[in-house]
Amino acid sequence: MKKSTFILSILSLTLMFTAFSARAEGNTLGNTPENKTGNVQEIPALKECFTSCFAVGTAVSPHQLQGETGTFIVRHFNSLTAENCMKPEAIWRKDGKLNFSAADALVDFARKNGMAVRGHTLVWHSQTPAEFFQDENGNRLSSEALYARMDAYITEVMTHFSSSVTAWDVVNEALADGGDGIYRTQSPWYEICGEDFIAHAFRTAHRVQPDAKLYYNDYGIIFPEKRERALKMLRKLLADGVPITGVGIQAHWSIYSFSPEELQKTIDAFSELGLDVQITELDMSIYNWGMKEETALTPELEEKQAECYARVFSVLRQNADKISSVTFWGISDRFTWLNYFPVRGRADYPLLFDREMKPKKAFYRVIQ
Ligand code: GLA
Repeated sequence: MKKSTFILSILSLTLMFTAFSARAEGNTLGNTPENKTGNVQEIPALKECFTSCFAVGTAVSPHQLQGETGTFIVRHFNSLTAENCMKPEAIWRKDGKLNFSAADALVDFARKNGMAVRGHTLVWHSQTPAEFFQDENGNRLSSEALYARMDAYITEVMTHFSSSVTAWDVVNEALADGGDGIYRTQSPWYEICGEDFIAHAFRTAHRVQPDAKLYYNDYGIIFPEKRERALKMLRKLLADGVPITGVGIQAHWSIYSFSPEELQKTIDAFSELGLDVQITELDMSIYNWGMKEETALTPELEEKQAECYARVFSVLRQNADKISSVTFWGISDRFTWLNYFPVRGRADYPLLFDREMKPKKAFYRVIQ
């Protein structure tokens, strides 16, 4: 063999071996062989893994709908929730002229790409301007005046989006986190109207858009204490004939506390009431509540998270007849609110795609 041929043979063998090792490593890491981003055709589109089960959504802001990120969103999801731009804080104006510009951009994008939109959220104690609850002199509204404002707001917002938004979180987070009572009492809605604001909001929403699906949405409701509160409230609403379609389980969970058994019990309990279930804000933090220190996503943590996600989706698939939609709260670890909460600037890794939009181990476990 000529010296040059020998060198070439060694070189090509080395290249083949390197390519093979990269492929093998890619696979053990849970990435595609080529280790490309989630836009690449080789990885399945997330939504297509659940076509016979439920819609798969993500929470977005309008600025994320451009370029590669926009393509990524369309490829993997078939439902959108506005992370912020449909909240009263973004839409309501003191002068009565509601601002729909950001929300319209999101809804247009969804319509052009054949995606559903979950309306989020009409009545909430948070991210609602303080002035919403005040008259022009800064005094607290009476319950009559606040109901009139609620009615006008719900009517205008639902009417504006009625051709595109068919499911709404009508009331968000009205339940107490602790104590003996059912309801969150530190809320201007509760302080001014008492618990009746909940039923009132649903009745108004139903009057405005009778064919819309109407949800009560909250966090922590798979855990027994808060689930009991939710059930008490829901039974009462249903007994009073309040038009409510279902419950949104927010699903801001942690790898330290997620419980598939409690999720199953919760799905059973809500659907036994005849209610639809949606998972509305799914993420799986690598921190436990109260942890302050930042940590990297170690292989152990990534495995633990993948296992939690596998369990979540095993329960969701088994209950697909009771669940109409599953929405992740964010597109990838690059865009998650948990990088800012509860510790500002601390990196978290709660979603299926990493900061480069590449699929994580959890992605592959979820689609299995
Ligand atoms: C709650 C709200 C959402 C969002 C998340 C955190 O769960 O319902 O709108 O604000 O918190 O980002």
